[in-house]
Amino acid sequence: MQYKEQLDLSRIPQHVAIIMDGNGRWAKQRGHERSYGHQAGAETVHVIAEEAAKLGVEFLTLYTFSTENWNRPSDEVAALMSLLFDSIEEETFMKNNISFRIIGDIDKLPANVQERLYNCVRNTSRNTGMCLVLALSYSSRWEITEAVRQIATSVQKGELTPEAIDSNMISTHMTTRFMPDPDLLIRTGGEIRLSNYLLWQCAYSELYFCETYWPDFREEELCKAICDYQKRERRFGKTSEQIS
Ligand code: IPE
Ligand code: IPE
Ligand code: MG
Repeated sequence: MQYKEQLDLSRIPQHVAIIMDGNGRWAKQRGHERSYGHQAGAETVHVIAEEAAKLGVEFLTLYTFSTENWNRPSDEVAALMSLLFDSIEEETFMKNNISFRIIGDIDKLPANVQERLYNCVRNTSRNTGMCLVLALSYSSRWEITEAVRQIATSVQKGELTPEAIDSNMISTHMTTRFMPDPDLLIRTGGEIRLSNYLLWQCAYSELYFCETYWPDFREEELCKAICDYQKRERRFGKTSEQIS
């Protein structure tokens, strides 16, 4: 039976986060430049966003470009920026009632890319379906550092006492403050690591790793990950008996 048919549609994860990895290796395997893999990966983004929206996922956060990715060869970075500019397809979002958002150190992106992104955020803001979030020039350590700086500034100004700082309050200083924490984190491409993605938010997320390179990741593979997620017991520190 196909994974899609096995899904319990009443228990779809509310927030799915994906580390989209393996574009470069996918292209190399086919005798192409790495950027060819990024192009193919951009198509997968549209396929998976559409499928996730249809399944009823409310938030899909895609790790698209990390703070550390700025250290790649400049031609690869340039190719990624121009691909980003070209592949923001508002029509796909409007057709699927998807609202589009971005998190990360967006000021670091080229001005034309920023403008394109903010336009798309604005034009899709009234859509009431799934929220698709791209993490761009993002890393958790960058985000946590920013949050600490903001909180310290508020304390220094006397707007906040150190005693008022708790975990909820810290969460409200994260770029993800408008979303619940991820229920399921998927990483494609075979590496078993988080690479500085949503470290604070994934404290209790279910992790799923697969070998498939991102350009080959399709609907069935997403359903397989969600099926796997649905078999797990999330205990949040409690005992199994307490949960059932
Ligand atoms: C993920 O694919 C996309 C980005 C990090 C921008 P990679 O480019 O990391 O591909 P591999 O991991 O080298 O195959
Ligand atoms: C993580 O992939 C970043 C994105 C998918 C955008 P990387 O390919 O940069 O991660 P490492 O370097 O293998 O850990
Ligand atoms: Mg990689």
